Amino acid sequence: MKQYAIATIAALGLAAAALAENVRLPEPEKTGGLPLMEALAKRATSRRTQGQAPTPQQLADLLWAANGVTRPDGKRTAPSAMDKREIEIAVLTAEGLYTWDPEANALAETPACVDLAPELRGASALLVYHYNKALQTREGALVDCGFVGQNVYLFCASRGWNTVFLGTVDRAKFAVALDRGEDEILFAQRIGVR
Ligand SMILES: Cc1cc2nc3c(=O)[nH]c(=O)nc-3n(C[C@H](O)[C@H](O)[C@H](O)COP(=O)(O)O)c2cc1C
Repeated sequence: MKQYAIATIAALGLAAAALAENVRLPEPEKTGGLPLMEALAKRATSRRTQGQAPTPQQLADLLWAANGVTRPDGKRTAPSAMDKREIEIAVLTAEGLYTWDPEANALAETPACVDLAPELRGASALLVYHYNKALQTREGALVDCGFVGQNVYLFCASRGWNTVFLGTVDRAKFAVALDRGEDEILFAQRIGVR
């Protein structure tokens, strides 16, 4: 697994095929931030998510807050029904669409087969929440996804970033882009790094 920053790889101009290998993210920063009660007080939806491209460190911190591994047995920042940990996060940035592996703290690029730029709408990132229908009930997955979304809301409040949780997402388009036959795309969340 390579240790390169995503931006570095893009700058090197490597072909998409070369990016099929996982790209390890930096270790997430797990200290600091706003005190919880202040983050709760600041949690809000903002649709002004146009922003700068996230750095690899910012992506690592955001994704770890969303649903990162917190314990040796692999449990996460978000709970999940029957500990199935079925919610997966795809990350769309201006550089491409990636799937996130929380155990490896790594991103793998998904080769672009549809134009996803309109879905980003100038945001720093769009998180797309999906799950394998063979792993969890729909009811369980919907609740579990809500916990992940709230983690992201609180993280963004702590950082002073903008975010909106989205029921309006082009599920058919992302299903094609992600090419995960058994998966249902649930929700998305747009992020504006400030
Ligand atoms: C399940 C769910 C779906 C949502 N879908 C959208 C959406 O498609 N578009 C949007 O602009 N906001 C969406 N929102 C954000 C809500 O509009 C927002 O949370 C609500 O107005 C309350 O504002 P607050 O988050 O600042 O408290 C969604 C929120 C939830 C929980």
